[in-house]
Amino acid sequence: MIKIPEYVERRERLLEQMTPGSVALVPAAKALRRSHDTDFPFRQDSDFYYLTGFNEPDALLILDKDTEKTTILCREKDQLAEIWEGRRLGFTQAIDVLSVDSAASIANMDKILQSSIDKKDIVYFAQGNFDWFDSAVLSAMNGLRASPKKGFMPPKQIQDLRPLIHEMRLIKSEHELALMRRSAEISSKAHCLAMEFCHPGAYEYQVESVIQHHFMMNGARNPAYSSIVGGGENACILHYTENQDALNDGDLLLIDAGSEYHGYAADITRTFPINGKFTPEQKALYQIVLDAQLAAIAWIKPGCWMSQALEAANKVLIQGLLDVGLLQGDPEVLLKENAQKEYFIHGLGHWIGLDVHDVGVYKIDGKERPFEPGMVLTVEPGLYIAPHLNVPEKWKGIGIRIEDNLLVTENGHEVLTDAVPKSIKDIESLMQS
Ligand code: GLY
Ligand code: MN
Ligand code: MN
Repeated sequence: MIKIPEYVERRERLLEQMTPGSVALVPAAKALRRSHDTDFPFRQDSDFYYLTGFNEPDALLILDKDTEKTTILCREKDQLAEIWEGRRLGFTQAIDVLSVDSAASIANMDKILQSSIDKKDIVYFAQGNFDWFDSAVLSAMNGLRASPKKGFMPPKQIQDLRPLIHEMRLIKSEHELALMRRSAEISSKAHCLAMEFCHPGAYEYQVESVIQHHFMMNGARNPAYSSIVGGGENACILHYTENQDALNDGDLLLIDAGSEYHGYAADITRTFPINGKFTPEQKALYQIVLDAQLAAIAWIKPGCWMSQALEAANKVLIQGLLDVGLLQGDPEVLLKENAQKEYFIHGLGHWIGLDVHDVGVYKIDGKERPFEPGMVLTVEPGLYIAPHLNVPEKWKGIGIRIEDNLLVTENGHEVLTDAVPKSIKDIESLMQS
């Protein structure tokens, strides 16, 4: 767990960046209802969690630049509600537990919002994130506007708070990295167990259950995203999550699954033969994807860019596709034409952290930003020979992706997910052991 001082320090860093005369508002997520009167598993808003570590719905964090005061609004203690719905921290305890300056009941949010933003020049919040909160802020502003004789004055400007928090979230702290390493470790082991369990005739959902079981047995109650377990041509559906088919002898299985551990995601993909032995066609395409991934990974170091990693991967993919006859032409021309796009139809990777597709801009003033120590990203090239493509039959239905999570370090990178085998030899030997 991350200790409370780190959350305090994050709030201080955010306050430092705010303009004098401003206030920042960060609402918690709300519980999401399903089937009349039961809820989806609660998932806290990542920005709110990053600044508080507080995992209850119906809460609001208020930061005042001028007084440097931090206030939390949260649910009141309520014996009956807690017996039905679960424990609540309560605002009296919140001051100590969350180390804030003051706390109050969320039931008074409208009134407190008004007084918090009164006579401020700027109110920072993430407009458009929650409709209910947009309305709450606008009606607080209208409330102030409605009573000028009382000396009320609404803020002159609304500013987006996200860029400030998201730049902070992009560079991971040691505490965050410890959680990300653990999430990667749990997820890597889950992939190994899935390889060991996999056999012709098993169902995709059974393989998913092996993964899910390992996540939960290790304190990661939820995956960071719906697990993709796609056998045969299902691997060519990028976001395949039905996971309902039987696995066929002679096909590949693509698994894209990662745990969420104390809020932090892992995002791993491995592709392997259901019967433990690659066919010559599968082997040829698999090796191309693996070589492309390794070529890309070599560029993950401070000062380099994602576009350099992508170009390295694309060169390998194009040469490989030429070698097996799935592309024809001059490699340089094919590279300029992005000819690999027919078979590699998604991006090379993304930031990862509290969200699987984590926050942080990829370009600054229209220019690509270089990697910096503390960034964590995925590298995930693939080749998908979908059945509708006009290629020889022997290639059709092969879908391959290999995805790892990398931390940019001072001197290069650390692969957080290298405990899952990915060479042909290592995969075949794990599956046959
Ligand atoms: N699992 C989602 C992704 O790889 O981006
Ligand atoms: Mn993935
Ligand atoms: Mn990914």
